[in-house]
Amino acid sequence: MLKESQNRMFQEVGPGTPMGNLMRHYWHPVAAVAELDGNPTKPIRLMGENLVLYKDLSGGYGLVDRHCPHRRADMSYGFVEKCGLRCNYHGWLFDEKGACIEQPFEEMIDPDGNFKGKVNIKAYPVEAKAGMLWAYMGSEPAPLIPNWEPFTWKNGFSQVVFSDIPCNWFQCQENSIDPVHFEWMHANWSTRLGNAEGPYAPTHQKIKFEEFEHGFIYKRVREDTDEENPLWTVGRVCLWPNALFTGGHFEWRVPVDDENTLSVSWFFSRVPHDREPFVQERIPYWTSPIKDPETGRWISSHIINQDIIAWVGQGVQADRTQEHLGRSDEGIIMIRKRYVDDMKRIDNGEEPKGIYRDKKANGCIDLPIIGKEQFINGHTREEIDNFPRDYNPSTPNRFLFHAGQPEEVRKQYEAATGVKMMDKGIVE
Ligand code: FES
Ligand SMILES: [Fe+2]
Repeated sequence: MLKESQNRMFQEVGPGTPMGNLMRHYWHPVAAVAELDGNPTKPIRLMGENLVLYKDLSGGYGLVDRHCPHRRADMSYGFVEKCGLRCNYHGWLFDEKGACIEQPFEEMIDPDGNFKGKVNIKAYPVEAKAGMLWAYMGSEPAPLIPNWEPFTWKNGFSQVVFSDIPCNWFQCQENSIDPVHFEWMHANWSTRLGNAEGPYAPTHQKIKFEEFEHGFIYKRVREDTDEENPLWTVGRVCLWPNALFTGGHFEWRVPVDDENTLSVSWFFSRVPHDREPFVQERIPYWTSPIKDPETGRWISSHIINQDIIAWVGQGVQADRTQEHLGRSDEGIIMIRKRYVDDMKRIDNGEEPKGIYRDKKANGCIDLPIIGKEQFINGHTREEIDNFPRDYNPSTPNRFLFHAGQPEEVRKQYEAATGVKMMDKGIVE
């Protein structure tokens, strides 16, 4: 149970707040690279700041204030030029660093006045990686975007999925260090949603949490596994500071403001040997719905949709003054302590956990991955056809994670892998 002030400290991400400062030390995925192909500007809200993401005519990316510093017009209606974004009201043009590089009328009427040299728009750096656009809102010099090992894997079909979640980011992230919920929220609840009364899933017998360089690892022994099982020897990863990593996919919980979160998931599926070499020209993206428009209830058919039901169910901002933590929550307590320690480190002029600045080391950052060889080496067509379960983690034949995968993405996946999807979600 936390004091109200502690709870607020974890939740508030606006400029100048302790958590806002901490989260501004990291790059965050905020959009898909392919998203700006059709429309080069996109209004976004990040950590309580209203911004516009753009791709200019030279292919450069920028992220600037939503409002023009002249008379506050909406820059998301601006138009991109060879360099930068031009306000559509009076034509002032800004580059990706926020410098005003053209002021058409002012320059004509007073060529020596250099008014433009006195005006800036707020601007943050943007970089592309793994089919996503990442933003950094902290002070310079910016660290590197971690080059996680799966981003370097070959012969894979990737996709990026977004969901808009109407609750605070921190309760979403606490779900990243919660092994026991798999048994109940995903396994047993899915059984019940499928109208069966059982049998229930093997129970958790033992759990363990370990801090490591890139976050925390949670390990488990279930009734049907032992300490030789990779669920115990390798475990799953709560990736610092705001993600979950399970092997074939990442899930980032990006704070939009204190009451909203952008869920960003990146999936990798290995193509079978007979489809190699496979190079994906464009990583598709889509937005997964979370509410059933007919019933007004949250969608429960897919794994991450189930998680989202937990997150939004905790309230727009979970009231941690009313919680009762048990032994299953040891990981939650550990990560809360780490965030607090990181805030202290920042106060002392030090860097928080999980900042990467060494280019060589960032060439490929290894992570604990159950079944890693499947993602790297892949399978023959025959092995895939004869896979003992109906869900092969490296080349799945169902998209179990998010509801609403568009037909077009499914077709692209099938064309790439030759695996026919049977996506009816968990409940059939
Ligand atoms: S308000 Fe943007 S140029 Fe005038
Ligand atoms: Fe979950």
